[in-house]
Amino acid sequence: MTGHVPVLLKEVADGLNVRPGGKYIDATFGAGGHSAEIVKRGGMVLGIDADPEVNAVHGNFRDIEKIAKENGFESVDGILFDLGVSSMQLDSPERGFSYRFNGPLDLRLDPTKGEPASQIVNTYSEGELYEIFTRFGEENNARTIARAIVIARAVERITTTEALVKIVGNAKPVLSRIFQALRIEVNDELGALRQGLDGARIVIKTGGRLVVISFHSLEDRIVKQYMRNGDWKILTKKPITATDSEVRTNTRARSAKMRVAQRL
Ligand SMILES: C[S@@+](CC[C@H](N)C(=O)[O-])C[C@H]1O[C@@H](n2cnc3c(N)ncnc32)[C@H](O)[C@@H]1O
Repeated sequence: MTGHVPVLLKEVADGLNVRPGGKYIDATFGAGGHSAEIVKRGGMVLGIDADPEVNAVHGNFRDIEKIAKENGFESVDGILFDLGVSSMQLDSPERGFSYRFNGPLDLRLDPTKGEPASQIVNTYSEGELYEIFTRFGEENNARTIARAIVIARAVERITTTEALVKIVGNAKPVLSRIFQALRIEVNDELGALRQGLDGARIVIKTGGRLVVISFHSLEDRIVKQYMRNGDWKILTKKPITATDSEVRTNTRARSAKMRVAQRL
C-alpha cells in the first residue's frame, strides 16, 4: 500500500520503549510505517522528512532541535532515525536515485535546496571525485572512474543517470557504490547525521531513547562512536539486525543495523 516496507518494525517500537501518551519524533518519516506503529502503541508522533513530497513536517533532521521546538516537541521520550532513502524515492526515475532507471542525475533528498549530483559530476576535479568515490563509496576503482568521468564530460555534460551508467559500466555493485557516494556528498548525509544526533541529545529527556537504523558502515561508525560520548547508556552492545525471515520478505533489511541508547 505504502510502497515502503518499514524495517525492524517491532524492534524499533520496542527500542523506543513506546508508552501510551509518550512523545516521539520520527526524524525520517518516509511512508510513515514506523510512526504508525508508534501511534498504534499509544504514542504521539512528530514526523519530519527532508523530502517535500512526504506527508510530514518538511525539514532536515540536522535542524531537529529547532523543528522540535516549533512543534511543541522539545522534551521527548524517544527519537528514531531510519537513515537513507525510501523505496518510493528509489523507484522514482525523476529523482535520479537509482541506476536502474534513466532520469536526471539529481539524487537530492530535498530537490528544493542545493545543487543536483550532475553539478558535482560536471564540476569537481578528478581528485575530488576520486576522494568521494573512495571515502563515501569505498570503491576500489575510484581513480579509473573519476578519470573516465572527466574525459567524458569534456565531450558532453553528464546530466542523466543513463549517461553516468555508460561511463561507469554495468557492474551493479560498482554502480551502487558510485551512486551511494554521490548521494552522500550531494546531501551531506554524514554531516546531517552528526548534527541530527547532537540535536537529539538536547531534545530527548533523561531516560528517553535514541534509535538509529543505518545501512552502511560509515553511518554505523558515526552512530556507534556518538553513543559512546558519555551522555548515553548503550542498550545494544552489538547492533540489532533483521531476522532471515524479514530479509526474505524485504531485501532492504539485509544491511540494516539498529542501535539503541538511553539518555543519561
Ligand atoms: C528509509 S526512509 C524512512 C522510512 C520510514 N521509516 C517508513 O517506515 O516509511 C528514509 C527517509 O528519511 C528521509 N531523510 C533522509 N535524510 C534526512 C535528513 N537529513 N533529514 C530529514 N529527512 C531525511 C528521506 O527523505 C526518506 O524519506
